[in-house]
Amino acid sequence: MAVPWLVWLWAVVSMPGGVAVAPPVVPAPAVTEDSLVARGRRLFDAVCASCHSVEPPARQAPPMANVARRYRALTASRSELVERVAAWVPKPAAERSLLPPPARQHWGLMPALPLAAEDLAALGHFVASLAYDSVAAGMGPGPGMGGGMRMRHRGGSGR
Ligand code: HEC
Repeated sequence: MAVPWLVWLWAVVSMPGGVAVAPPVVPAPAVTEDSLVARGRRLFDAVCASCHSVEPPARQAPPMANVARRYRALTASRSELVERVAAWVPKPAAERSLLPPPARQHWGLMPALPLAAEDLAALGHFVASLAYDSVAAGMGPGPGMGGGMRMRHRGGSGR
């Protein structure tokens, strides 16, 4: 029974001299899609951004928004995209790559980055957000890496 537990928690937390006054809505903070994306973004900036920009121009690797659109086009669902990215990062392998072979040859295989499972999931959610939630997400994957980038306000070669 959740209710007596919550009442107990409320009583403890709201005791005079207690540790906190915030109402205990749930015992632990809920993990929402938004909080996962935000965490993934921070990890991306810390771990991935040395090679991957988000939008073109590229650094040492294809810009992540382009990767995200390509992944969206080649996967069945947002959750599959998340899983694919999470599986890729600790174990890149040419046979599991979703990039066109010329792009892979151009960039060379990504080095493996062993990260905790929760971090990998957060990164997956961040990449998914680039394909599903961003303004440019509706532009479609185009014919290759970032083919859709040529449309409208982006300009540039889109690689
Ligand atoms: C040392 C440089 C480097 C770092 C750091 C790096 N990447 Fe990459 N990544 C690459 C290169 C190069 C490619 C393109 C070649 C390939 O696919 O292996 C790539 C490709 C990818 C792809 C597409 C894989 C495919 O071929 O289907 C994903 C997804 C990806 N990176 C995610 C990440 C994430 C998330 C991080 C941070 C945790 C990250 N990368 C960090 C170099 C890097």
